[in-house]
Amino acid sequence: MNNSIPIACDHAGFSMKEFLKEALNEKGMLAKDFGTYSEESVDYPDFAKAVCMQVINNEADFGVLICGTGNGMAMTANKFSSIRAALCWSPEIAGMARKHNDANILVLPARFMTFEAALECMLAFINTDFEGGRHSARIEKMKKVTED
Ligand code: RB5
Repeated sequence: MNNSIPIACDHAGFSMKEFLKEALNEKGMLAKDFGTYSEESVDYPDFAKAVCMQVINNEADFGVLICGTGNGMAMTANKFSSIRAALCWSPEIAGMARKHNDANILVLPARFMTFEAALECMLAFINTDFEGGRHSARIEKMKKVTED
């Protein structure tokens, strides 16, 4: 497993990002911080791409994105065809997003969960493998969805 986790947020997720970075480092993992770097108001789409590109370019297995509700980051990240970003608020959901959906970006809603719950989600996400099998076929179908 790649030992570095790219992470980014908007202003609403800044303090949660700082907490998670430190927690990752304490666990011997490297958090690669792609901003934002303060609570000054910014636009979440400007911060989602760098983390997604780390995963797309195989610089990292997973990424973490944080905004107020998580929805803006999830919607932006899911514009990239090989990104499967999952909005998670419990370790169970984070684990299922890996097991069943092979999610590669964890999205956290900073205004709706505690730092501790966010850390539990992140650890569940990082430490859970995709189950494959019937779920692989569903993901292949997901990739082929068109507007026709
Ligand atoms: C910022 O106020 C907020 O809109 C943003 O963090 C996020 O919740 C958007 O989806």
